[in-house]
Amino acid sequence: MRRSELTGSVNQSDLSPGVRSGGGSRVQLGLGSEPPTELDSARESVPGCERGRGRDREREQGTEFGSDRQPVTPAFVVDEAKLRRQAASFTAAMARVWPNGIVAYSVKTNSLPWIVAWMRTQGIWAETVSDDEYDLARALGHKPTRMVFNGPVKSREALLEAVQAGSIVNLDSRREVRWVCEYAHAHPAATVKVGVRINWNLDAECPGSTLSGQQGLRFGFHIDNGDLDDAIGQLKAAGVTINGLHLHATSLTRSLDLYRSAARAALKAITRHALALDYIDMGGGFFGGESPDFPTPAQYIEEIRDALCPVIDPTITRLIIEPGSALVSVAVDCHTSVVDAKPVQDYRVVVTDGSRTYMDPFFGGPSFQCDLVTEGEPISTPQVICGFTCVDTDRLTVLTDCPKLQEGDRVIYRQRGHYTSTFDTQFINYLPRVYVQTEAGELIQVRRRGTTADYLTGNEWGAP
Ligand SMILES: Cc1ncc(COP(=O)(O)O)c(C=O)c1O
Repeated sequence: MRRSELTGSVNQSDLSPGVRSGGGSRVQLGLGSEPPTELDSARESVPGCERGRGRDREREQGTEFGSDRQPVTPAFVVDEAKLRRQAASFTAAMARVWPNGIVAYSVKTNSLPWIVAWMRTQGIWAETVSDDEYDLARALGHKPTRMVFNGPVKSREALLEAVQAGSIVNLDSRREVRWVCEYAHAHPAATVKVGVRINWNLDAECPGSTLSGQQGLRFGFHIDNGDLDDAIGQLKAAGVTINGLHLHATSLTRSLDLYRSAARAALKAITRHALALDYIDMGGGFFGGESPDFPTPAQYIEEIRDALCPVIDPTITRLIIEPGSALVSVAVDCHTSVVDAKPVQDYRVVVTDGSRTYMDPFFGGPSFQCDLVTEGEPISTPQVICGFTCVDTDRLTVLTDCPKLQEGDRVIYRQRGHYTSTFDTQFINYLPRVYVQTEAGELIQVRRRGTTADYLTGNEWGAP
């Protein structure tokens, strides 16, 4: 087979990573067959499920590698060496520029258990934004004292548990302020420490750099309309220590001026409220490649340091950053195979076992960059690469002057680690397999294909 390199449009966070470093680790999860559950017996009695069970058994016992030891498609493949390079580019920059700073992985960006657990082995903390993510990171070995708990919809129970367990907890709603104040009143002897998330007018300072524009950012307490002052006032009155500030903006540009703007907002809050902080958490939004058009991890952290340092002493206040896409994007590819190809008017429609649902669940995004593994000869007819869903707009890219694709050929989408393999779409087909290409050169499987049993777990159905 020969490989044909193609270029489509490139996402901001796509592009190649930094320096390679050695070592390796791996944990194999979720591959064995599980003990029978109550639902197994329920399923046996539902017509049709016996047939599903047969296929599930096949998957559990697994012919999970192709005859040529290739991943069985559709599948995501994590490249451990690339992941390590990305992780090292951030941890090394932090160690140099802000020696006691913290790199916390944004779990939502890709919550694949293998990846979340692997980050811990690199000294990277877990940044979580829901009770479930917090539980997941703990289940995968992250210690509460090395976890950040963000998000606007924490439960009271999980929030207070995380505060007591010594996690970094950033408040993001008025009910959270109330709960923490109530807790502090009920436990006057306890030292209660929390951070607060700041909302600021980023669009005024960096016009056009956010999706939300003039509507403003969604999260945190606004710094200019009294909301932040009120939250801080309530917390202080209840004897709560405000030990940190959190600022994150989903940006279109991933540029340095956003962090300068965030730093200005932080400094305003610090000065206005005479805050003595253990940390300033600048969130994510970094670029993780090697394009000269984007800053390096060190440049981001230096910029933040230079903007904060007139007021902040980095030996006392820790910097936290929460990269997500910048850590995982480049390290994950999505492998798919051609199922069918047919002429349609002036085009060739190529049906594959991948889908836009894997990489762009809202079907709004770009045409994807891909490589082809094929023996086909180039043809001038444009080929429309389509997914397995019965959705007409499930079209991933249009190839022109490319090899003629045939059943069995492989189409590989590069740099698809962010918001993909764990976006958990089970639309039409269950979850695809995930493999890891280890640094030792071994291909291991870390998630099996989803099954009917997985899908039914937790459900009840009344029909006989
Ligand atoms: C609070 C927070 N931290 C970190 C991130 C990760 O951002 P990115 O994937 O752009 O690095 C996000 C993503 O939206 C976020 O909301």
